[in-house]
Amino acid sequence: MRISINKIKEMKQKGERITMLTAYDYTTARIMDEAGIPMILVGDSLGMVVLGYDSTIPVTMDIMLHHTKAVVRGTQKALVVGDMPFMTYTVSIEQALSNAARFLQETGCQAVKLEGGVNVAETVRKVVDCGIPVMGHIGLTPQSINQLGGHKIQGKTPEATAKLLADAKALDEAGAFAVVLETVPAPLASLITEKISVPTIGIGAGAGCDGQVQVINDILGSYTDFVPKHAKQYAKLADIMSNAISKYHEEVTTGKFPTEANSFPMDESVLAGLN
Ligand code: KIV
Repeated sequence: MRISINKIKEMKQKGERITMLTAYDYTTARIMDEAGIPMILVGDSLGMVVLGYDSTIPVTMDIMLHHTKAVVRGTQKALVVGDMPFMTYTVSIEQALSNAARFLQETGCQAVKLEGGVNVAETVRKVVDCGIPVMGHIGLTPQSINQLGGHKIQGKTPEATAKLLADAKALDEAGAFAVVLETVPAPLASLITEKISVPTIGIGAGAGCDGQVQVINDILGSYTDFVPKHAKQYAKLADIMSNAISKYHEEVTTGKFPTEANSFPMDESVLAGLN
């Protein structure tokens, strides 16, 4: 049985901390599921860490659906959240409904995430009314990077603080089951966490959130183009991969690989008749 949004909401009530990670492929999702990670986000961050773009803007519905299907196939218990890409939910409510429905129908994921607060609250309400669980995302919203002017900490002035609180409350009232707070000062994230009824999931928002999310490549140390301050590297996978790949290269070029153990024998007499 998969973890439901009700279970995630209950975790806040019980004071249980919620762990979320991003995944973009079957193999990684399977390892996460087996490790007991309750919630997996197929983030549009895949635009950078998987596809090599410099932002999430080029990511399309087709790309997201493709990767979300792989993650769903790799999981049995985790709640899988599909990230709605740039401009796929803001043109009209109808557009948002039909794209959100595609995530659930075509990939088998259980929820969608979209960026924005008061400006998307009505959309969130309509999507939720159709039976599609929605996770909100406020603070640093990477799809608006050109508007925000870079990866800057959000909510530093009294006006920006009031806006973020209003955004979080609007998402809560619209029926979002959780809200991601990205790159928000820790005291503000704690205050928002106290003021809304659903779990806050922080990334660069301090320990006062109900849960934490990280990009898997950041915590494994496999994506080294940019290492965010909020990420902790639990491994240095780029180094491990680089050593293994160099060793393979060396063994192929020097004839050490493959050995008999990696090859398939046959009865030599079968070859006897060949020229
Ligand atoms: O796309 C993503 O990975 C995200 C998380 C950073 C929350 O939106």
